[in-house]
Amino acid sequence: MPPISSPGAEARFDATIAAEEKIEPRDWMPEKYRRNLVRQISQHAHSEVVGQLPEGNWITRAPTLRRKATLLAKVQDEAGHGLYLYSAAETLGVSREQMQDDLLSGRAKYASIFNYPSLTWADVGAIGWLVDGAAIVNQISLCRTSYGPYARALVRICKEESFHMRQGFEIMQTLCGGTSEQKAMAQDALDRWWWPTLMMFGPHDAESAHSQQSMQWKIKRQSNDELRQKFVDQSVAQAEHLGLVLPDSDLKWNAARDHYDFGAIDWDEFQRVLNGGGHCNRSRIKARRDADQDGEWVREAMLTYADKQRARAVEDAA
Ligand code: 3HC
Repeated sequence: MPPISSPGAEARFDATIAAEEKIEPRDWMPEKYRRNLVRQISQHAHSEVVGQLPEGNWITRAPTLRRKATLLAKVQDEAGHGLYLYSAAETLGVSREQMQDDLLSGRAKYASIFNYPSLTWADVGAIGWLVDGAAIVNQISLCRTSYGPYARALVRICKEESFHMRQGFEIMQTLCGGTSEQKAMAQDALDRWWWPTLMMFGPHDAESAHSQQSMQWKIKRQSNDELRQKFVDQSVAQAEHLGLVLPDSDLKWNAARDHYDFGAIDWDEFQRVLNGGGHCNRSRIKARRDADQDGEWVREAMLTYADKQRARAVEDAA
């Protein structure tokens, strides 16, 4: 039941945002603020859950027991991140079933990066280093988001993400310090994941449909381009440390800007993947649909058990 508006409710909402305080579930909020948050948080949660699939593909083929155990822990963390975020979204009045239905029907998005295939073991390293690295840049900023449950979920998520990035970078370090074939495998993975990772930060600010309003409501604290630039700047030294070459011939230090200039992103590819034209769009949604169907009996059993528990508690109380 959405909080009831009252005289001065909007002024109090605006004052809370201006004072850098958090909007909580019981607070009155503009319906558009609520809907924007449901959109972003649920899609963030979908991304975490679908994001398990490219790496999950390599759990049974990890080269050592240590790599397998580390990858298992990371993929399990991502499931937990999805659950924190679905729970945060539920505080806005949307059900888990509704969010799942929005994903499976295509009404809701998940990060386009997860529609790319993980072809070699080096992809697991590149995903941890680049994709989780980009997610950290974005999520550290989002820890200051104005909606309380989202901000608190992100603080927990960011603590676990740093392990995700470090394990990926270590895989890349091991490959780059190995045979020439292993280093070539690492460079190939970097070549395939670099540009789709830059797309994770969203369209350029001028083309961003939500940024202006999201920044006004302090849902978003830094712009898409600002966070993308921060990620590019940090990645150059990391790639140099690995002895790898970022696949961008326009990458060049710009002393006047105190940032790296970088090449144009292929937004046609971004839209094509967003519209279902990526290598793995169909298989990702099939995996989620199969999991939903296979898990039906578990949900039913748990809900039946919970109903029985409630009925017993009522009997005992009578
Ligand atoms: N993939 C898919 N859709 C994207 C996208 C991407 N990389 N970037 C933008 N979009 C979509 C937006 O969702 C929006 O579509 P919608 O209106 O249907 O929701 C449209 O493109 C326009 O983009 P905007 O910039 O206007 O949208 P936002 O203001 O929402 O900004 C965002 C996009 C930066 C992704 C923002 O939503 C955000 O910060 N989300 C939270 C972080 C997140 O979702 N990260 C996804 C990766 S999670 C992850 O990597 C897990 C890690 O552990 C591996």
